[in-house]
Amino acid sequence: MFSLANRVALITGGSQGIGRSIAEVFSAAGAVSVITDIVQDIGEEAVTAIQDSGGKAAFYHCDVTDSVSVENLITEIVKEHSRIDILVNNAGITKDGLIMRMKEDQWDDVIRINLKGAFNCIKAVTRPMMKQKSGSIVNVSSVIGVMGNAGQANYAASKAGLIGLTKSAAKELAARNIRVNAIAPGFIRTRMTDALPEDVKQGYLDSIPLKKLGEPEDVAKLIKFLVSDEAGYITGQVINIDGGLIM
Ligand code: NAI
Repeated sequence: MFSLANRVALITGGSQGIGRSIAEVFSAAGAVSVITDIVQDIGEEAVTAIQDSGGKAAFYHCDVTDSVSVENLITEIVKEHSRIDILVNNAGITKDGLIMRMKEDQWDDVIRINLKGAFNCIKAVTRPMMKQKSGSIVNVSSVIGVMGNAGQANYAASKAGLIGLTKSAAKELAARNIRVNAIAPGFIRTRMTDALPEDVKQGYLDSIPLKKLGEPEDVAKLIKFLVSDEAGYITGQVINIDGGLIM
């Protein structure tokens, strides 16, 4: 069940956090995990760790906001591995602030990385996936994109935008057997949530029915299911993974 044997998977922002866990889980299921990130040293460490445990992985430095670099990256992957089966748009940042104080570059940076970055990657994989007549894309949105959050208008807009992008791409690509889904994680234990003050974290915990933060591996296992053959009839969906926060 859920084998990814010989699948070639690109994971953006895969050097650390949720992305790294996705790469580990994919490789353990038999995939070649291609990690791309703007942080090179820990990305290469992640690849070495996967290879040391018998998995297949590679690292490419690429900024997802740069459409030319993204096109070159996909060309390189297809040249090296003859195909690309899976894309996980995981790269993302926060630059929080209340709207009245938010600087233009805080807005632009978050939209450019979280939303345009995903568009660039989807656009670049579309041609090879259409040729193969198969592919699976997962966009990492957030509960914040579904319910909004004070102080995160830029992040919420980028993650809500990803949901519209997911549904549009799913409709455009379904006829070529390419599935596109989004996931909306709640609060997952990574450096993004480690940085929160204790009282804020406690406030979140109080509102989560399962009374705990999620682990990166919880998210990775959901994505493994979504890109596997077992999820072959699922497209255009947004799956929450949030301990019951949104019901
Ligand atoms: P993280 O900060 O640990 O990892 C994000 C990675 O993206 C970093 O390695 C970073 O270098 C990379 N990145 C940033 N800009 C990039 C660019 N322009 N090009 C390529 N790579 C770039 O964050 P985390 O927590 O692992 O989050 C991963 C994704 O999950 C993000 O999209 C985030 O918004 C989303 N998410 C996280 C939640 C959490 O509680 N941690 C909850 C809901 C969604």
